[in-house]
Parts: sequence; C-alpha cells; structure tokens
Amino acid sequence: MSNRTLPAAAYDRLTAAVARDTGQRRTAALWIHAAGLVRHAHDHGLLPLSSPPPGPDGLRKALEVLASCHPALAPFTDPAVLPVWSQPLGAAAWSGIEQFWAAHPGLEDGHRVDGYALGDAYQLLSEEARKGRALCQTPPWIARLLLRLSLEPAMEEWGPDNTLMIDPACGTGHIVLAAFHMARVPPVRGRQKGSAGREDQAVERALRTVTGVDLDPYAAALTAYRLLASSAAALRTRLDRVPASWPVSVAAADSLQDLDQPLLRAGAYHACVANPPYITPKDAIVRDRVRAAYPQVASGKYSLALPFTALMLEHLAAPGGFVAQLTANSFMKREFGRRYVEEFLPRFDTRWIIDTSGVYIPGHGTPTCILAHRARRPVGDTITVIRGNRGEPRVPEDPARGFVWRAIEAAVDGRLARERFEAGLRAHVAQLDNRA
Ligand SMILES: C[S@@+](CC[C@H](N)C(=O)[O-])C[C@H]1O[C@@H](n2cnc3c(N)ncnc32)[C@H](O)[C@@H]1O
Repeated sequence: MSNRTLPAAAYDRLTAAVARDTGQRRTAALWIHAAGLVRHAHDHGLLPLSSPPPGPDGLRKALEVLASCHPALAPFTDPAVLPVWSQPLGAAAWSGIEQFWAAHPGLEDGHRVDGYALGDAYQLLSEEARKGRALCQTPPWIARLLLRLSLEPAMEEWGPDNTLMIDPACGTGHIVLAAFHMARVPPVRGRQKGSAGREDQAVERALRTVTGVDLDPYAAALTAYRLLASSAAALRTRLDRVPASWPVSVAAADSLQDLDQPLLRAGAYHACVANPPYITPKDAIVRDRVRAAYPQVASGKYSLALPFTALMLEHLAAPGGFVAQLTANSFMKREFGRRYVEEFLPRFDTRWIIDTSGVYIPGHGTPTCILAHRARRPVGDTITVIRGNRGEPRVPEDPARGFVWRAIEAAVDGRLARERFEAGLRAHVAQLDNRA
C-alpha cells in the first residue's frame, strides 16, 4: 500500500496525538517514523528477527538488532539521532502508532523495498525537517532525469566501475537511491567500458558509486538504511548478510561548511546531483558564515541553493564532472542572483537549462528549473534550453505523467538522440579520414 492513500492530515493528526505524550512534535515524529522503519524492515524479511518484540521497549530492541546488521546502521542506536533512547513513550501513544502502521503494511508501492514511501513519510511527519531544513522529497521521476544528465554521461565517460556520484543534500535519499539503481544496472551505452558481472558485484559497485550527505542525521541514517535494504533485496537476503566491508557512503554533516568530512573531499566526484535547499538561512550566524565561505555567489538575501552550486562546481566535482540540480528559479528574478548569473555561472560549461516552473511537483510550492553543467570552462557555443510555454491545466492524477513533464522528457529524449547521432557521425567520419 502506498502513502498516496494516506492524506498528509493523517500524519499530522498522529504526530499531534503522540506529541501530547512526548511533549515535542520532533520526538513524536521520530518515534512514529522509527516504528514505521522497523515494520518496513520486518515486512520485507530484512531483519534477523521472526517478529519485532512488542511495545516501546520492543522497538528499542528491534532497533538494536537493525543497528547491529551493518556498521552504517549504527546511528539508529544513537540518542542524538533518535530520541527513542532518551524519551519514554506511554502505552496509549504506542498503540496509536501501531494502529497507524498496521493499516499500511509494507509501507510501499507494490513490492518495492527501496523505501520511497518511508522517505515521503518522514517528510510528512517531521515539520522540523520541512520547515527548519527545507526537506522536500525529490520525486523519483525528477531524480531519473537529473541522473540522465549527469551520472549517465559520467558513467559513459569514465566507465561504470570508476564513476563516483554524490548528492550533498541527500535528504532521505531519493536521488541517491535512483543513482544506486542506475549504477547497479548501467544504461547500455555506459556499460561499454566493462561492467557486466554477477549481481553481488553489481550491488557492490552501486554502493561504491553513490554518496549522500545531509545536515539531518536521521535523514542520513534513513538513506543508509534504504541503500542497504535495496542491496539486500537485490541479493535476496537479509540486512545482516550484506557484507560489512561493502561501503555505504552516507554521512550527517553541513556540506557547505564541514569540508573536513572525508565524503566531501575535493575533486572526487564525476557526477554531483542535488535538489538543494532553496531557503535563506534563518540563523544570522549561519547566514554570515556561509556568505563568508561563498562570497562568489552569496550576496544579499541569498538562497542556499547558490552556495550549493558553488560547492558542487568548484569543490566536489572532478575536472569535467557533471553537475545537475533541480533548484528554485528565484535567482533569475531577484537581486541576489545577479552576481551568480552574470559572473559565476558563465565561468562553467552550461549544458542544459530546463524551465520546470510549469511542472506539478508535489510539495514543491516554489517555481523551479533544472540546471546541468560540466565543471570546466565553457566549451562550444551551444546551451540546450527547454523553455516553458504554460503550466499544467490541472493537477495531474499522476504527476510523472503530467503534460508539461512529459513534454520536457520528450524534448530531452529528442535532444540526446540527436547528440548521439551527431557524435556517432563524427566518429565515423574520423574513422574514414584515418583510413584515407
Ligand atoms: C530539497 S531537500 C532534498 C531532498 C532529497 N533530494 C530527497 O529526495 O530526500 C534539501 C535537503 O537539504 C538538507 N540541507 C539543508 N542544509 C544543508 C547543509 N548545509 N548541508 C547538508 N544538507 C543540508 C536538508 O536537510 C534537506 O534534506
């Protein structure tokens, strides 16, 4: 069952009810989500437990078992990440949580194990993550397009076994999970440089390829869980049987400021992909620190999305690396974007500018665009621009099938096909020239 059947108000009501017990919405949201996570792991046969023990203490026991399955799951026993270790919960609140999740077995669309619904549930439950850190899930259909413009050409250029990808604002991991799937089964063209092999090798390669970092330690832990759940599912096994030596590169850190975090090392990534936060930092100290660290883009009441672009293009990307982002288009209209548009972006090889302001993206009230660059000086004189004519006539039943989004996908497909044809033609002519 998917959370499409659960209105946002149902999550809100439950959080409010549990918060009457815990005293805080934040702790209530985390109690509820942790219970959903354990149920997810259990329902998909991922835990070495026949059934989770009952009650709040049972949840703690199950979390201990979960955390012992892989080193990357250790944060689930850290009270700083998950307050269930320090915050008691009464029987009535627990029974409300149990009833809620019991009505939604498997927490998934169909039989998917990769936890999209778990990620969406966290956004719906945690007002703190939504309002304080701008958590807003990136739908998988958007993530796939971002990756076609970044990870896919990167795998083609560097080979699937050598390509590294990062999302430095990974949230609960929607983009990282889509990248994991792409790296596990690379598109045919990317497969040319040696990638065939057994499923365990494919899963290990996919884990080695992807990295996620987020300010929110629970969201980061959830991303790690989703990567391991997807790995275990692909191998038809349990979490504790995914080799502990396989890396799960996910960390909780401030990507803009904690550049000592090893996952944020300079020049390491062939693909950087993000749906960065669009908010202006509310805390004046943070606002000034970020402004001081990114003077080239952060001026006036800047949106955090701009320093994230600088982070990806100037710090994280390998020379020539592909950088793609879904971002707010406010920089095109407001004074804070002037320096970014006139001085910063022209230093890089802009590949795509796609107006997505007419696309219906659930939860995203802000008009958006997709930007795709390569981390190098501009090459050639062509930038592919997809301009919007109008928005959706009505809220589409399935946002991935909305008129505007389908038109964008068709335009991208057409352009990529043409680029491939032209590249093939050039290679053929070069071959003929060499023979002559
Ligand atoms: C739009 S959401 C990204 C959602 C993500 N793509 C997903 O689908 O789950 C923006 C994310 O940026 C994170 N964030 C905000 N400031 C950050 C910072 N300085 N460093 C790292 N992450 C940050 C928030 O916690 C939030 O998860």
